[in-house]
Amino acid sequence: MHRRDFIRLVGGGVVVAATTATASCAPVGVDPRAAWDNPGATETDIRRKALSFAILAPNPHNMQPWMADLRTPGEVTFHADRTRLLPVTDPFNRQIVIGFGGVLAYLQMALRQLGQSAEQVTFPEGEAHPLLDDRPIARVRLVGERKSPPDPLFPRLLDRRTDRGAYADRAIDTAAFADLLTSPHVQGSLDPALVERLKGLVYEGARIEAHTPAAHQESVERTFIGARDVAAHPWGISLDQPMMTAMNAVGILTKAKMATPGTTAFNESLKFLKTAADTSRGFVWITTPGNSRHDQIVAGESYARLSLMVAAHGLAIHPWSQGLQEYATQKPVFDALHRELAPDGGRIQMLARIGYPKSTLRPAPRRGLAAQIRSA
Ligand SMILES: Cc1cc2nc3c(=O)[nH]c(=O)nc-3n(C[C@H](O)[C@H](O)[C@H](O)COP(=O)(O)O)c2cc1C
Repeated sequence: MHRRDFIRLVGGGVVVAATTATASCAPVGVDPRAAWDNPGATETDIRRKALSFAILAPNPHNMQPWMADLRTPGEVTFHADRTRLLPVTDPFNRQIVIGFGGVLAYLQMALRQLGQSAEQVTFPEGEAHPLLDDRPIARVRLVGERKSPPDPLFPRLLDRRTDRGAYADRAIDTAAFADLLTSPHVQGSLDPALVERLKGLVYEGARIEAHTPAAHQESVERTFIGARDVAAHPWGISLDQPMMTAMNAVGILTKAKMATPGTTAFNESLKFLKTAADTSRGFVWITTPGNSRHDQIVAGESYARLSLMVAAHGLAIHPWSQGLQEYATQKPVFDALHRELAPDGGRIQMLARIGYPKSTLRPAPRRGLAAQIRSA
């Protein structure tokens, strides 16, 4: 019964009716994607201008846990908002720190674009282990006019997306692929046999997560469905395409159903991920020698840059992190990925599928600068 409803929705006019009905319920004047529209245009403080770009960085589950303290002139000090972590799927805050690496990379690029040089110190009061605490993650100090030219990848900040959809049936251009591997710590493969094995392993990570209740629930809680819910929560995983909004309106796609094995919502999510995995045309991964906080920041900086190169080459990228996570049920996939991709040691910090996109995506929501700045 559930399944029939789903198919009718996917294929038919019911969607149109339901979409029209729910569109009028969306909050008027709230655009959860406003941060992408001419970032920083109205800002006068160069730090705020640059931060308007930095907050567009990729980050785990779009939690955007960055707090930028601007109380010292000429400096930006980042802290983690510890109400925005992922305690089950990221038990040591490793991925959260990778996300800070992305913000730092974007901030540096934006400052350079604006004519500034900046020096950066990460964990200036020491690395926090095993969990982040109130000490700063990084301090960035403006040190005068830039010495190097603007970064040619800077304009791609606005095009970059995480693309979780199916990819086109088209082989990746080998020159473009070689270019991606020039980012520090990035490796990758287009080898058909390895790509097949990785498709299986990433999907297995997703399947395990879906059947690990605490981990799955963490993602469900951070998922917002329908235009109204996403406008009210411009963070987390946003399912507000018209189809999702429509399925939510008729009760097929709800958080409760996503959380429950056997429902259409649960089964279709896994099917969606299987198709995504199966259409991967290649994989890239980022490995660091150790797993210090510094390593994690470097991994995030590398990923931020890699994702801009991906956008510059018209490719699509989708990090796939479950099998790299530390909770117990992922151990078989974690070990298999490390055996396969890091046989000589090192910690794989990120693994992502790549291919050519099938469609153009809207950007993911952002909370906006005002929510992430401490200035008094
Ligand atoms: C460390 C890290 C891990 C991530 N892991 C996943 C993942 O497992 N699955 C996924 O769909 N996206 C993953 N992402 C992508 C984020 O969900 C995405 O960046 C965020 O939702 C914001 O969307 P955007 O990149 O389109 O701006 C990851 C990103 C980072 C930085």
